Amino acid sequence: MQGALKSRITTIATSSNAEIESTGVTWGIESTAEPQTLRLQRHNRGRTGWGLVSLLALVGCSGGCGRAGNPSHSAQALPTERPAERPAAQAQAQAQVEGSSELEVSVRPDVNERFLDPALNVQEFVEVFETESREIALLREELADSLQLQAGERVADLGAGTGLFMDPLCDRVGTSGLVWALEISTAFVEHLEQRANEHKLDMLRPRLVSERSVDLEPNSVDAVFVCDTYHHFEYPASVLSSLRDALRPGGRLVIVDFERDPGSSRAWVLRHVRCGKAQTRAEVEAAGFVFDAEVTIEGLTENYVLRFRNPQ
Ligand SMILES: C[S@@+](CC[C@H](N)C(=O)[O-])C[C@H]1O[C@@H](n2cnc3c(N)ncnc32)[C@H](O)[C@@H]1O
Repeated sequence: MQGALKSRITTIATSSNAEIESTGVTWGIESTAEPQTLRLQRHNRGRTGWGLVSLLALVGCSGGCGRAGNPSHSAQALPTERPAERPAAQAQAQAQVEGSSELEVSVRPDVNERFLDPALNVQEFVEVFETESREIALLREELADSLQLQAGERVADLGAGTGLFMDPLCDRVGTSGLVWALEISTAFVEHLEQRANEHKLDMLRPRLVSERSVDLEPNSVDAVFVCDTYHHFEYPASVLSSLRDALRPGGRLVIVDFERDPGSSRAWVLRHVRCGKAQTRAEVEAAGFVFDAEVTIEGLTENYVLRFRNPQ
């Protein structure tokens, strides 16, 4: 490999491996040995087959262009958010949705690698996700309220993680309702099953799903909750399309994710979170959802809450 190219891959791989999801918790991944080697090994394991292509695309684009690699895939890389140019972002997101009959290319290769690791230490993530120093954990009841759930409704928590929202969601829909806790991580699904049994939550249904689809029956849920997970979607157009199928007409979709402002966000957020609020909204609208409201919650400073509806 050419020296300059290798050095750029090293830089990207180093910063990618430094990304650990946590508010107020810093993990020393950056100092781990040879992240570039890890990245290339991952590709050799052949999890997606697109890892190296996408990595090279990133190398080609690290100066700020939007895409590289296979030009026939409009979902190759979405632009960095520029709120003032929302129509452009929307047009690009629309192109991505229109192209979603083809196999969508990952917009953020390997972002979920640690969650997909069968040796994942769930307890470590319980401590990271459920600590009260994480504003999302502190405000989980208020966040659950943003879904406007009624007793007896069916809600899906997409990217349920360790089950932070398990109790608030089950409380709201009650024993006549249903809570799907959807995860791509086998370790988290096992953990959620265990918690559901321990807490005797019969309405909780943990389920392993693919990275491209929520794998639910058409019109089978009244609401979907996506907390700190939108930026983890490798295939946002495909997931959003499957979400629209699963959500009944008029059903709610609530997305909670990090504010991302190049002028003020922490370096970790800028590196780890693919896009900010305006682009998220543009992508979700491009997938056919109708924007309903931005929900403001006192004390929520690092994250925004957007609510959408599936058109009637
Ligand atoms: C940062 S965690 C957030 C967990 C939880 N929502 C919370 O806020 O505590 C993101 C989670 O999304 C999951 N995830 C990523 N992509 C997903 C997808 N396409 N479908 C379902 N889960 C996904 C990951 O496995 C991970 O557990």
